[in-house]
Amino acid sequence: MFSGKARAYTNIALIKYWGKEDQELIIPMNNSLSLTLDAFYTETQVIFSEEISEDRFYLDNQLQDSKATVKVSRFLDLVRSKAHCNLSAVVQSQNFVPTAAGLASSASGLAALAGAASAALKLDLAPEELSRLARRGSGSACRSIYGGFAEWQKGDSDKTSHAVKIPSAGFENDLSMIFVVVNDSKKDISSRDGMQRTVETSAFYPGWLTSVPQDLAKAKKAIAEKDFVALGEVTEASALKMHGTTLAANPPFTYWSAESLQVMNLVRQIRNNGLACYFTMDAGPNVKILVERKNETALLQALNSHIATQQLVVAHAGPAIKILTEA
Ligand code: DP6
Repeated sequence: MFSGKARAYTNIALIKYWGKEDQELIIPMNNSLSLTLDAFYTETQVIFSEEISEDRFYLDNQLQDSKATVKVSRFLDLVRSKAHCNLSAVVQSQNFVPTAAGLASSASGLAALAGAASAALKLDLAPEELSRLARRGSGSACRSIYGGFAEWQKGDSDKTSHAVKIPSAGFENDLSMIFVVVNDSKKDISSRDGMQRTVETSAFYPGWLTSVPQDLAKAKKAIAEKDFVALGEVTEASALKMHGTTLAANPPFTYWSAESLQVMNLVRQIRNNGLACYFTMDAGPNVKILVERKNETALLQALNSHIATQQLVVAHAGPAIKILTEA
């Protein structure tokens, strides 16, 4: 019996990953840059054992159906083949989210699975190798190997596509990210399908790709100079450009709801009143607001008269993946 356990935190992209060059290997079309957060994490234990005849996957103590289990099994196959092991496994994953508002993330889930499975089979992976492995499960998971800021360097092969830590002299600790949960319902179009449709059909996609290198350079400069306003501006711009591509896809789609727009407008209004804050959004209607930690309370107060407290989740910079046990 071989057992491993890991805890990985979610991350939110400030410069978005949007589009794959290789679907199978999950090589992205563009580099992306993220902030790992402390408020959401997944703990996963993987036990490979002779006594099990097929993989079993429990999420939050519930045995999952074959569809969810197949995804986990395929990922475990990658780890098994690296370790020359053919044992089946029991996977137990627990999502730690502050509310049950559908905020569970594939980034923390797949990073924790990669960490736990590779620890169980004693693969002893360096961070970049673990990042490459996590990437095969879900692209954004490759950034959750690191605490603070990370850049997923797209590379051009399985070997060269992985995330790296961005030196920041602790700038991430000056930041807060407030999640505004506007809708609990399941998203209609997964990020995987949404990005593929956009790559294949959106007239705006080439524009997205051309703009990323400049945005990435701006974000890295802002981090190096601890320039919050510059980082916030480029974060918001990257999200708007990414979401712009979906409107020009065929068939067109958007992740925005009426409420998302209201929150985005509210953020602009608060900013125009002198409090620097910027939004970002992913493949769903929730809005995330980046603010300096020293202004967190003021922002929460400004939001409070428009948004119910239970819709708000405060997060700060989170740590790197942690391997919890090695059998
Ligand atoms: C909008 O990592 O969920 O959140 O690689 O297909 O699993 P797959 O996609 P996923 O996509 C995340 C897209 C995004 C932007 C980002 O996190 O960079």
